Amino acid sequence: MRIDVISLFPEFVAQCAAFGVVGRAGERGLLSLHGWNPRDYAEGNYRRVDDRPFGGGPGMVMLIEPLRASLRAARDADPAPAKVIYLSPQGAPLTQAKVRELAGRERLILLCGRYEGVDERLIQAEVDEEISIGDYVLSGGELAAAVVVDAVARLREGVLNDAESAVQDSFEDGLLDCPHYTRPVEHELGPVPGVLMSGNHAQIARWRRMQALGRTWQRRPDLLDEATLSKADRKLLAE
Ligand code: ADE
Repeated sequence: MRIDVISLFPEFVAQCAAFGVVGRAGERGLLSLHGWNPRDYAEGNYRRVDDRPFGGGPGMVMLIEPLRASLRAARDADPAPAKVIYLSPQGAPLTQAKVRELAGRERLILLCGRYEGVDERLIQAEVDEEISIGDYVLSGGELAAAVVVDAVARLREGVLNDAESAVQDSFEDGLLDCPHYTRPVEHELGPVPGVLMSGNHAQIARWRRMQALGRTWQRRPDLLDEATLSKADRKLLAE
């Protein structure tokens, strides 16, 4: 998979993607990340990338042309069609379902804004989708782009080892994850739940599902709806 990042700080996103599972995806050739800096496409001695907003108000707005030229360069660098995503608090919230959809594509271009944002005409003309990583404001889209790169890369075939398999992740089945334990069995902070050492796989699966359901119900009841619960879950909850 190829991901191009358009940003005034493309090295920042590259650094975020240089470690752990995502770094390994790069080393294995499963992810190629390319940065494009709009400043390199800006004109004049000052290589200006922003200007004051029409209508007044604080902050600056990113200019159309340096962004459009970087987008063109990114698109032209590879013939595969790319989906262009603009990271902004005005976007649709990022969910695991959306991450999975994006991970199914061969090419993404992530557009990161700074300052007050990007000239709306550029967004209208060039952006396929606007995505937010949460209801808070970051000083730029780079951290959000790094979040997208990480979440998407780990779902690509061959990136996770069997032991790290994504199927058990939180949200993959619409629920929060169950708690996890490792050695030692006895510790001053408490024991490991006995069922996990019982060797009874059906009981362990049942316990984990119960924990996931209970935690979701307690912490994120908004995630629980008719669709997420199987018949077996309803039976478990009724017990
Ligand atoms: N840029 C600034 N804040 C953001 C957010 N919450 N999500 C995505 N991009 C952003």
